[in-house]
Amino acid sequence: MTVLVFLDPDHENGRVADASKPQLMATDQGVTRGDGIFETMLAVDGTPRKLSAHLARLAASAEAMDLVIPPAPAWERAIATALAEHPPATELVVRLLVTRGVEGAGTPTAWVQASAPGTSGRQQRETGIEVLLLDRGYDSSVAERAPWLLLGAKTLSYAVNMAALRYAKKQGADDVIFTSSDGRVLEGPTSTVLIATVRDGVKTLTTPLLESGVLPGTSQGALFKTAAEAGWHLGYGPLEPHDLFEADAVWLVSSIRLMAPVRSIDGKEIPVSRELTEELTALLVKGSRD
Ligand SMILES: Cc1ncc(COP(=O)(O)O)c(C=O)c1O
Repeated sequence: MTVLVFLDPDHENGRVADASKPQLMATDQGVTRGDGIFETMLAVDGTPRKLSAHLARLAASAEAMDLVIPPAPAWERAIATALAEHPPATELVVRLLVTRGVEGAGTPTAWVQASAPGTSGRQQRETGIEVLLLDRGYDSSVAERAPWLLLGAKTLSYAVNMAALRYAKKQGADDVIFTSSDGRVLEGPTSTVLIATVRDGVKTLTTPLLESGVLPGTSQGALFKTAAEAGWHLGYGPLEPHDLFEADAVWLVSSIRLMAPVRSIDGKEIPVSRELTEELTALLVKGSRD
């Protein structure tokens, strides 16, 4: 079951709409051009996790593409309506979507969607994932040089990300780590790369450089805060593929699947640490309550 709540100036808490009926205009630029942005967050027992971080990233994505979107309180009310309308569930996926709206109208189309998570995330969390390194086709400085590519924004133009996932699945892998044309590790199509190294008792958590054109992950941000409090050292790349092979553990981390341990890269097995996964997942969950 999917609950839809449109942000609508005539409905203070959002307008509930029937998800089984058409609700968007065919001329909406979200549809005709993929011109819009989104967020995906987890709600646990009816409470969204990392709500302020998701709303802040939504605002940053909007700013990057000159899109004027409803203010945070309107989103908060619509999210509350969506969660109240959905039958109670331990975990729900809450999506926030905004498009540039119907051509010529000048107002965005904005809605919240609440639905149950699929089963694969939980399974991959437990069994781990096999990933392929795939070339993203641009170098790691392009984000700064060409801001119109919107690399740090979470736009609706995810067809390339989905194509990369399908490509990996056809090769028998579960997921992807993108690399830049100058050989840097970037991110997954829907996740942030994290590596852990433990040397002489010093534990270090490293993620690729944000400036290399990756989406700033809210999970990575939340985890870095609590991990630092727990004594972990933190690092921001640059990372190269050899760093992944030399690490004590590698994960793809995101809001719904949480920490998915990487079991192999391009068919080569890498170390998996159940202990570190449990420790860091607990720190991520702790850091995600806001
Ligand atoms: C490209 C990309 N990188 C990273 C992430 C992880 O972000 P978060 O931890 O906020 O879910 C996502 C999430 O969907 C993503 O699409």
